[in-house]
Amino acid sequence: MKLDEILHKTDLNKEEIVYLLELSDFRNTRKLFERADEVRKFYCGDEVHLRAIVDFSNYCENDCLYCGLRRSNNNIQRYRMSPDEIIETAKTISNVGIRSIVLQSGDDKNFDVDKIAYIIYFIKQNFDIAITLSLGERDFEEYKIWKYAGADRYLIKHETANAKLYSVLHEKQNLKERIEHLEFLKSIGYEVGSGNLIGLPQQTIEDIAEDLLLCKKLDIDMASFSPFVPSPNTPYRNKNVGSVELTLKTIAVGRILLKNTHIPATTAIATIDSLGREKALRVGANVVMPDFTPKNYRDNYCLYPHKRLLVDDPINSASFIQHIMNSLGRRVSNSRGDSLKKQSHLI
Ligand code: 5AD
Repeated sequence: MKLDEILHKTDLNKEEIVYLLELSDFRNTRKLFERADEVRKFYCGDEVHLRAIVDFSNYCENDCLYCGLRRSNNNIQRYRMSPDEIIETAKTISNVGIRSIVLQSGDDKNFDVDKIAYIIYFIKQNFDIAITLSLGERDFEEYKIWKYAGADRYLIKHETANAKLYSVLHEKQNLKERIEHLEFLKSIGYEVGSGNLIGLPQQTIEDIAEDLLLCKKLDIDMASFSPFVPSPNTPYRNKNVGSVELTLKTIAVGRILLKNTHIPATTAIATIDSLGREKALRVGANVVMPDFTPKNYRDNYCLYPHKRLLVDDPINSASFIQHIMNSLGRRVSNSRGDSLKKQSHLI
């Protein structure tokens, strides 16, 4: 089948996805990128949604081979923000006009069900903002309580759809359970975000095709495709960094396959390529996640080194972000950036 035909299909099978991910010559890759941008415009429009991240604790009980927050890393300073500090940061975010906040941490049970519920409830009572939780795998009962407290979304990447590789990377966790968590979260009404890492040691192009197909099957609301960045003090510190080109192709194929699913231009791609964020926005991405973690904590949330932030001082950033988006012919949304799937149900 010709490239043009594949690019205009409404659904893609594994073979076609692999074919697109393996495109290597400039002309054909550009065709893929242009088609993805067209599909993004059709399904998502020109608005870029901002989700403000607050990394409120870097304690983690897991020991994932790739992650700088892993339990065995004794070379970082661990911190926890207090509920008041988290709420104060939510207020700042709301004051600059961003209506979506991501409360993110390592797998830290010190933030128990009540502490998290209190934070959610307080923020929802006081600010007009959607809350995404990104706390790792927790009890199903806890997910339910946080939903009642007002949480809107849950972000938990499947990381890789290759079950064997998944088990190598994560000491105590397995892919089957990760998928059960994603399905449960969706079933109780969360908007759900998932996604993968690109360029993990031993990962193949077929694995990445399976990642895309899993995102499709789970019918998730946001899918994040980001490069693996080797992190010091981890067993993978000397491995190769994920490829920018392959990440961009994955985003582009993701857009064509997943249509109205939100796709972020991640901090990780911006970190390994100074124009990574802009490039991602041009090939299918429609979300940006600026970091609002208070400065004194930020450097210690070191999933990987030299995180390149959108802006150093987010508080004065609204006009700067607007400027970058305008230069791409896009505009910053002033909505909560709800799932586009929900909205199409209403039409
Ligand atoms: N490179 C890129 N992303 C990473 N993450 C963790 N470690 C790395 C790394 N070395 C990502 C994982 C996780 C999220 C919180 O951070 O995908 O889901």
